[in-house]
Order: sequence, then C-alpha cells, then structure tokens
Amino acid sequence: MSAILTDRYGRVHDYLRISVTDRCNLRCVYCMPEEGMEFEPEENMLSFDEIYEVVRVLAGLGVRKLRITGGEPLVRKNLEQLIGQLSAIPGIEDIALTTNGIYFAGRAEKLRAAGLTRINISLDSLRADRFSLITRGGDIKRVLDSIEAAYRVGLDPIKLNVVLMKGVNDDEIDDFLQMTIDRKVQVRFIEYMPIGHDDAGWKSKYVPLSTVKDRCVEHGWTANPSGEVYGNGPSQNFRIEGALGSFGLIHPVSDHFCQTCNRLRLTADGNIKPCLYWSDEFNVKTYIGNDQALADLFLKALDIKPESHEMAKALLSEQQSHMPTLRRMSQIGG
Ligand code: GTP
Ligand code: 5AD
Ligand code: SF4
Repeated sequence: MSAILTDRYGRVHDYLRISVTDRCNLRCVYCMPEEGMEFEPEENMLSFDEIYEVVRVLAGLGVRKLRITGGEPLVRKNLEQLIGQLSAIPGIEDIALTTNGIYFAGRAEKLRAAGLTRINISLDSLRADRFSLITRGGDIKRVLDSIEAAYRVGLDPIKLNVVLMKGVNDDEIDDFLQMTIDRKVQVRFIEYMPIGHDDAGWKSKYVPLSTVKDRCVEHGWTANPSGEVYGNGPSQNFRIEGALGSFGLIHPVSDHFCQTCNRLRLTADGNIKPCLYWSDEFNVKTYIGNDQALADLFLKALDIKPESHEMAKALLSEQQSHMPTLRRMSQIGG
C-alpha cells in the first residue's frame, strides 16, 4: 500500500489525533455541561491492539505524527503501554499528548520512556480559585507540578492551552504573556469554539485573538513571528523580543486554517472523523484485520472531507451540505 492520504483539495494528511477515552476527571465550562455526561460504554472503546492496527495501516499511508487526546487521556489505564506500542511502528516520528495535567506528574518518566515526544497541557487561568471554577474543581497545583515534571523529563517545548473567554479569563492575557517572557513555555491562546453544550452562550464569551496583539502593543512589547515549528497544528507563533518562551494564536473561528489542514481524527469508539466540526463518521471496527479495506475506508472518509468547517457561519444558517457534529469536544478530543 503506497497511496498517500490526499483529499479532493490536495491536502496531504500525515497527522492523526487519537482520542483514547471520552471520560474526563474534570468538566471544563467550555467543554462539558455542569451535570457531566453520559459516557460511552467501555466495551465500545477500541482496545490498544485495535488502535495499534489502525495506526500501523495509516503509517503505511504516510501518517507520521500522532496526538493522543481524550476526554482526558490519562484516565485510560496503562496509557504508557499504548504509547510504547505506537512508538514501535515504523514511520511514526512524533507522539504527543494533550492533557489537563492533573495526572501527568506521577507518570511523566514512564510516559517519556515509552516514547512520548511532546505535551500540550490545558491551563486556562493562573489563579487557583478561578482555575477551580473553570474546571469545576480542578487543583491548579497538580497542573503546575505536571509542567515541572514535563521540564524534568525533557519534553520540549511545553505548550499550555488557554481557551479565552470574555469576563472569565481574558483579564489574564498580560499574565500569560509575562509568563512567556520569564519561562521557556509556549502559551497558546485559543478562540472559544461553539462545539458542545453552550452554543447559545458562546457568542457573548467569544474573544477574537486580535486582543492578544493589542495587549502587546499596550505594554510596548514587540512580538515577532517566531520561526519555530514545534508541531503540526494550527497555531501561529510569536515571540516577544527578549522572551524565553513564545506564544501562539489558534483562531478557528475568526480566521480558520482549514486550507492547511493535515489531520484526521479517530474517536475512542472507533470512528474516523475527517473534520472536527462536521458529523460525518466512519467506524473502523469491522475493517480491522483487513489492511486494504481499512485503507480504503480512510480514503473514503477523506473523499468527503469538506473544504472548510465554516463554524461561525453554520451556526447562523440553516443551509449546509454537512450536519454539524453531534459530539461534544470531550468526545472528539479537540
Ligand atoms: P500541535 O501543534 O501538534 O502541538 O497540536 P495542536 O495545537 O493542534 O493540539 P491541541 O490538542 O493542543 O489543540 C489545541 C487547540 O486547537 C484545541 O482547542 C483544538 O481543538 C484546536 N484544534 C486542533 N486541530 C484543529 C482543527 O483541525 N480544527 C479546529 N477547528 N481546531 C483544531
Ligand atoms: N473551544 C476551544 N478549545 C476547546 N478545548 C476544549 N473545548 C474547547 C472549545 N469549546 C480545548 C481544550 C484542550 C484541547 C484539547 O481543546 O482546552 O486544550
Ligand atoms: Fe476534560 Fe479537557 Fe474537556 Fe476540560 S477540556 S472537561 S480537561 S476533556
């Protein structure tokens, strides 16, 4: 099998985001409803061996980079084992983790030894009380310990994800920017996406990322585009002159980056999602064990991948060729 994963718009796909569970130990306000969610029964989840088989086939089709997501991926038992299995697949060069950081510190060494190469940690506030409100009970100390553990085991760069919300944490932009001056981290400001339970409240909380640039100007900080390419995602990266770290802007709403999309998604219950936003899905379970059929299924999924998500437009219009996803963020993994 030598076909590469190219879609109708010529986009080559070499990056797979694998959600290993829809469960999470937190319920962030922008991601889950207060009452929590009904989780997928365990028996519907792909096993590690099934995920391995899917990735083995995809590596043969040109996938080089993996990102493990959730829910919270570290609530899945023995994640180290999966990372070990995946890192042994010829062709796989990069295995990254997106986590809320609550359970990482104690497992950092083992995960690193298993083959983890990069980490992105959610940190939406630097204030303990506010962090607890946003995550509905999360302890910021554990996340800060995980950041230190990531440094200790040599994960570099360490990326911190900050979903900006008006009236919730947008008064902390300066503090996060100052953090990039003082420490070798990459803080990524992310526009709040209308996926999930709060689509009505989304508009009033949405903050366009031009605000971050405005804050730099206000402080007299010169932020230059930073040439570093630490990743495969949609972040546009900048460095304040003299800073140890950098910051990134991820703006799926105001200026979508669909034209350069290089990623496919696999949900914990075994569905290929060619696009984060739309509901089209293809279940892999019955194809595992037949490499050609599995490869064909991925090509079929790519064949209907839309040119763009048009997230904001879709919310306002009844007319669209695809249905917006019925999954919430925690069931996709971002
Ligand atoms: P790297 O650049 O490899 O570090 O990954 P990343 O920034 O894509 O990964 P991460 O899981 O940290 O995602 C950061 C934010 O980008 C999350 O809010 C994701 O939902 C969002 N994101 C990632 N890929 C896409 C995409 O294809 N479309 C949209 N709309 N958002 C995305
Ligand atoms: N909008 C933007 N980002 C989100 N994430 C979760 N929900 C949303 C949303 N509605 C982010 C998390 C995590 C990543 C996987 O996705 O903060 O860092
Ligand atoms: Fe859990 Fe991540 Fe969703 Fe927060 S954003 S509730 S940590 S899945």
